[in-house]
Amino acid sequence: MFQNHPFQQTFCILFISLTLIFFFVQYKTKYPEFSFASNETTSSFSFEELLVEYSANSTEATISREIIFDVVEVLNSVTDLQNDINKTLFQQDNTVQQRNIYILGLFELTNKLGNQQEEGASELIAAKLAVRHVNALKILPGYKLILLINDTQGDPGVAIDRLFHAIYSENTVLVVLGSRFSNVTEALAHIVPYWNILQVSYGARSPALSDRRQFPLFFRTVAPDSSHNIVKVDFIRHHKWPVVVVFSHSENQYLLPINHLITQLEMKNITCISTVTFTTDNYKEQLNVLKELDVRIILGSFSASMAPLIFCQAHSLGMTGSEYVWIIENHQINWWKEAIGNCFQSNLTQATESVFLIGDYEYNNRILQSSELVKKIFENLSKISNRAKNTYDAIWTIALTLRASNAKDLDNLQYTNMEKAYHFVKLMENMQFIGLSGLVKFKQSDRVGDYIVSQIQDKYKILILKYSNTK
Ligand SMILES: *[C@@H]1O[C@H](CO)[C@@H](O)[C@H](O)[C@H]1NC(C)=O
Ligand SMILES: *[C@@H]1O[C@H](CO)[C@@H](O)[C@H](O)[C@H]1NC(C)=O
Ligand SMILES: *[C@@H]1O[C@H](CO)[C@@H](O)[C@H](O)[C@H]1NC(C)=O
Ligand SMILES: *[C@@H]1O[C@H](CO)[C@@H](O)[C@H](O)[C@H]1NC(C)=O
Ligand SMILES: *[C@@H]1O[C@H](CO)[C@@H](O)[C@H](O)[C@H]1NC(C)=O
Ligand SMILES: *[C@@H]1O[C@H](CO)[C@@H](O)[C@H](O)[C@H]1NC(C)=O
Ligand SMILES: *[C@@H]1O[C@H](CO)[C@@H](O)[C@H](O)[C@H]1NC(C)=O
Ligand SMILES: *[C@@H]1O[C@H](CO)[C@@H](O)[C@H](O)[C@H]1NC(C)=O
Repeated sequence: MFQNHPFQQTFCILFISLTLIFFFVQYKTKYPEFSFASNETTSSFSFEELLVEYSANSTEATISREIIFDVVEVLNSVTDLQNDINKTLFQQDNTVQQRNIYILGLFELTNKLGNQQEEGASELIAAKLAVRHVNALKILPGYKLILLINDTQGDPGVAIDRLFHAIYSENTVLVVLGSRFSNVTEALAHIVPYWNILQVSYGARSPALSDRRQFPLFFRTVAPDSSHNIVKVDFIRHHKWPVVVVFSHSENQYLLPINHLITQLEMKNITCISTVTFTTDNYKEQLNVLKELDVRIILGSFSASMAPLIFCQAHSLGMTGSEYVWIIENHQINWWKEAIGNCFQSNLTQATESVFLIGDYEYNNRILQSSELVKKIFENLSKISNRAKNTYDAIWTIALTLRASNAKDLDNLQYTNMEKAYHFVKLMENMQFIGLSGLVKFKQSDRVGDYIVSQIQDKYKILILKYSNTK
């Protein structure tokens, strides 16, 4: 994927890396007490207050067309989008002289076969909506934020090609927004530092992206897949369970968080006897292996589609019920409410009794009446991505960071301006605001959040405790 670009010669990379290291040293010595008041980033605009007001304390993680953008509706009326919709859904007014600044938004709009991806489309709409609000509320006085858009097709190579296309076109890209896929996001995150471009992903959850040394300019408005590990470890410690076993799907998405988890367990003197991995073909045999180990605390790492199969089989092997503790990820869907194959609802209900689920604490926004506007904005989509809120918030994260920098030359930055890029990183790391997806706050590159532990009891999901990580 590199050979097309003369800049990407090894020598050049080496040179740039050296400059980067050099700059780090420079930067550290030059600004020894580089600090930003955390309220500098959040004060003096109405968005936060507005959203605080409309955030309730609900914990039920449901996503529906009606509630996603109820807060946005308030903003719609504030920004007069309501009356503008027939003319231009997302265009902004050109009445004042403004200087343009550019964000490159990369979305999974189609797949390899060229089929439209509705999730990507809804994320794009959310991003456009946020840009519209940012401009209308004059979050960046004197500037107009412009979202350049391209499609990654879910392919890291295509994404890099699109990034270079934007870099070599006439407008300087200040920030890259994207994407949802971890593999695409990671490929981009390797490249952007060479051009001093910040990157904010709205959906990539791979733990690999937490590495600040590899990805110094990367942020994400979703928490990584490994973010629940701290809750799992504390939960196990709280119950003084000394020995556990891990049962994981042998795919990176499930294994990577497990590597992190095992380190965390060791640090807390909890013994992990073994990690039993399985594929979709051999999970039944591997459950037998798991049973042989005779450990009663099982940490599971697998998808919502594998879960019912696994629990049904575990049930028939007698590995469920009061003598076993299963701790697994909470997924968006209540997978234990759907009978599957020769496993009836009654089997599944028995099999999943007392299973612990670790998930994100979701701030639900108060349900306002679904307006014609929201319906109209999404009229052509049958489903909305559960990352749409994170995409909306990513634009605000970018805008509030640029605002906090107080920079007067945002429209005139060069790709060689490393100082500015790291200034933005510092600001972004220290900012927080209440967005559509809850409190937006980062620990280095990662979104941090609050978590909940629930338990399945007679096929209902019961909240056990809330775990706060944002204080
Ligand atoms: C927030 O701003 C006020 C005044 O604007 C200042 O006195 C205070 O120290 C700031 N708080 C933080 C946490 O920086
Ligand atoms: C939300 O929580 C706060 C404090 O935790 C409480 O004061 C408030 O009443 C709660 N609001 C609702 C709607 O439950
Ligand atoms: C927008 O157009 C619809 C018909 O397409 C019309 O019913 C509605 O009144 C118009 N809204 C405004 C604000 O002009
Ligand atoms: C997307 O990138 C391709 C090159 O990869 C370019 O030809 C196309 O014009 C770009 N689309 C937009 C809307 O900029
Ligand atoms: C990238 O990830 C997506 C979603 O996980 C997957 O469908 C796709 O095949 C992956 N592409 C490559 C080249 O690994
Ligand atoms: C783990 O065990 C070691 C040795 O027994 C002990 O020194 C250490 O404090 C323990 N750590 C925790 C977190 O309990
Ligand atoms: C489901 O439960 C029925 C009895 O209710 C039992 O006969 C059957 O074997 C169970 N199926 C599985 C796959 O455990
Ligand atoms: C939905 O599709 C129709 C027909 O293609 C189009 O006229 C309309 O503008 C679309 N709506 C939105 C919100 O994009």
